[in-house]
Amino acid sequence: MPAAAQDLLRGEGYYRQHCATCHGLDATGNGPMAGVLVIQPPDLTALTARNDGMFPTARVVLRIDGREPLVSHGSPMPVYGDFFEQGPDVALKAPSGQPILTSEPIADLVAYLDNLQGT
Ligand code: HEC
Repeated sequence: MPAAAQDLLRGEGYYRQHCATCHGLDATGNGPMAGVLVIQPPDLTALTARNDGMFPTARVVLRIDGREPLVSHGSPMPVYGDFFEQGPDVALKAPSGQPILTSEPIADLVAYLDNLQGT
């Protein structure tokens, strides 16, 4: 369950505005831009299923803000670190119990994605 400080509706708004062109409105990876990408956007409703039943909070956060080093080396997905940096910092709790510091907009996005799992 997402923490109370996270706002699903705001997260959905960010998702539709910034992510749906590639990952699709339903987040299964079939956005209008997917056809022109060499690497296909993954199904974001199956993150938990692909991660042994645990939502990969840390991976998703680092992926969106670009701290994941893979990103700067040829991923077609843009880095959103600067864009989503506005807003107060929040600490998300990964299923492992480890806290991950990120910004409020990214926390909202992650809550939205977490809530989509298995849909
Ligand atoms: C220009 C197209 C594009 C946009 C826009 C885009 N993505 Fe992606 N995304 C991709 C592609 C392609 C991959 C697979 C390659 C990779 O991981 O770099 C990916 C990978 C990911 C992953 C990694 C999944 C995993 O299994 O670890 C996450 C999470 C993700 N995107 C979330 C988002 C979110 C959230 C947004 C909006 C803030 C977004 N993406 C915007 C194309 C895009």
